[in-house]
Amino acid sequence: MSIKKIVKYGEASLRQPSKEVHKVSQKIKVLIEDLLDTMYKNNGVGLAAPQIGENVRVFVIDVSTNDEPLNPMVFVNPKIIKKSGACISNEGCLSFPNAYTSVKRYQNVMVKALDRNGRAFVLEAKDGTLLARCIQHEFDHLDGVLFIDHMINRFDAEEQLKKNDLPPLELDKIVDEPELTEAIEKLPKEEKKEEDA
Ligand code: NI
Repeated sequence: MSIKKIVKYGEASLRQPSKEVHKVSQKIKVLIEDLLDTMYKNNGVGLAAPQIGENVRVFVIDVSTNDEPLNPMVFVNPKIIKKSGACISNEGCLSFPNAYTSVKRYQNVMVKALDRNGRAFVLEAKDGTLLARCIQHEFDHLDGVLFIDHMINRFDAEEQLKKNDLPPLELDKIVDEPELTEAIEKLPKEEKKEEDA
């Protein structure tokens, strides 16, 4: 159980695809505790293993608010088995200190994963809630995909990166998602929410 250094945008492990976990071993359990400790210490709502330099398919989320008890959620070998709808999400990431920009997300996702005891579960998160958006953000980290790869406004994203002394957008990494782009263009304007994941 310890607080780890968070890998920043520009460092290699953020772009590397992560490997499946074969067994939720003691080593993986320690990794899970480290992820939770590091996420809470940095006031994040989610953290994925590559963000602490471990390229394995594990992430943690806690979307509880300050007046609620902690609600740590652990996802090992997650698979997104259903996704639908579209929404705009104003996101940040602990690997991008102080940088926020609007990104495209699905509104509803269904995820299948193992918990910290290696038991399978299925979870559905709907209506573009913080949980629904956070699952997609953390899941992406396991494939080396970052929130800026889903950005809506290239100018805004570039400016946020520059302002915070982060490397520029990697244009070859931008996710091509025409159906999401089209659905988002039809949406009414939404209020902005800022979260670090
Ligand atoms: Ni992140």
